[in-house]
Amino acid sequence: MNIDLAERWFLGGVEIPSRLVLAPMAGVSVQAFRRQGRRYGAGLVCSEMVSVAGIQHRNERTLGYLRVAADEHPLAIQIFGSEPSAMAEATRMVAAAGADIVDVNFGCPVKKVTKTGAGASVLDDPDHACRLVSAVAEATELPVSVKMRRGVQDGSRTCLEVGPRLVEAGAASLTLHPRSAKQMYTGSADHSLTAELVTLVDVPVIASGDIVSRARAQSVLATTGAAAVMVGRAAQGNPWALREIMGDGREPSREEVVAELLLFIRETVRELGEQRAFGFLKKFYGWYLGRGRFPRPFKQELVTLPSLADVERRLLAAAPGARFVLERLLDEVPDPEDEILLDALPISLYGGG
Ligand SMILES: Cc1cc2nc3c(=O)[nH]c(=O)nc-3n(C[C@H](O)[C@H](O)[C@H](O)COP(=O)(O)O)c2cc1C
Repeated sequence: MNIDLAERWFLGGVEIPSRLVLAPMAGVSVQAFRRQGRRYGAGLVCSEMVSVAGIQHRNERTLGYLRVAADEHPLAIQIFGSEPSAMAEATRMVAAAGADIVDVNFGCPVKKVTKTGAGASVLDDPDHACRLVSAVAEATELPVSVKMRRGVQDGSRTCLEVGPRLVEAGAASLTLHPRSAKQMYTGSADHSLTAELVTLVDVPVIASGDIVSRARAQSVLATTGAAAVMVGRAAQGNPWALREIMGDGREPSREEVVAELLLFIRETVRELGEQRAFGFLKKFYGWYLGRGRFPRPFKQELVTLPSLADVERRLLAAAPGARFVLERLLDEVPDPEDEILLDALPISLYGGG
């Protein structure tokens, strides 16, 4: 199939250097994940969804999600909320934090979010959905994108009704994950809806859901006319899936796997602090070392170790050569010294909203 994943495209005025986008994933899309995604071919990366209420209340952990490293660009920061003025205020913070694109979440199916009138539940009230997108678009010069499900109920086609209206309201791009909110992650993504959406709007559409290989990426791009594909679960602990989609199907060596995991650990400690990182990282061990790369008892052993220093030692003992790969990676990956630090965010400027 003659589809060039390395082709650039534009989202609003922002140039995206490839047709591969790394999905926003709560509890996964930390800086280390996004920077790694960029290194392995993603043309655009996205933060996990950030609570507008959390931004309004200056919740420290929420503001932490707004940290952007110099080598992440282009980067979207995703927000979720249900109130236009709060969305507008959050948008200004997101722009000040250094995002290139503001993404609005109309896809989250989780009760905790939908019961507040945010996430996928917004799709059931298209007028309100449009008010939220207008409020965001009016608050910034940055392009605004919206990520949505097909609708709330199984079989819903709401996205086809709401999508064009969101574009009128100011969305410069739409991402569709064509499962219903009710489905959560069961069943499969029905990209025939993505193809329909593409015919209804004159902005780029990004196809999300079940993109796990180059073959799948190319067939979804060819059959839907989408501008790009988005990859989520397949890239968890597995940046090599992104490399394969971009056309280089080499399997990583044990040393490469361990070195990327070690870099991921170190960067995550820098971002979240040792204590939070310790728990956060546990799910990543299985993701990195699975897929037949390391025996199961080894992964199980890592989650029982008392500190990250022990985890590092154990990993290096299992693949001593990883030390050299890690050194090379550390040389290649710039220090995120240009990162806009939280202290530098003009929080007081927006105080009281
Ligand atoms: C653990 C997890 C967290 C997610 N968090 C978000 C999120 O914060 N915002 C969002 O728009 N989508 C979120 N998603 C949905 C993904 O972005 C993506 O649309 C979905 O997983 C389908 O793509 P995939 O089959 O490539 O994983 C999440 C998915 C997973 C698995």
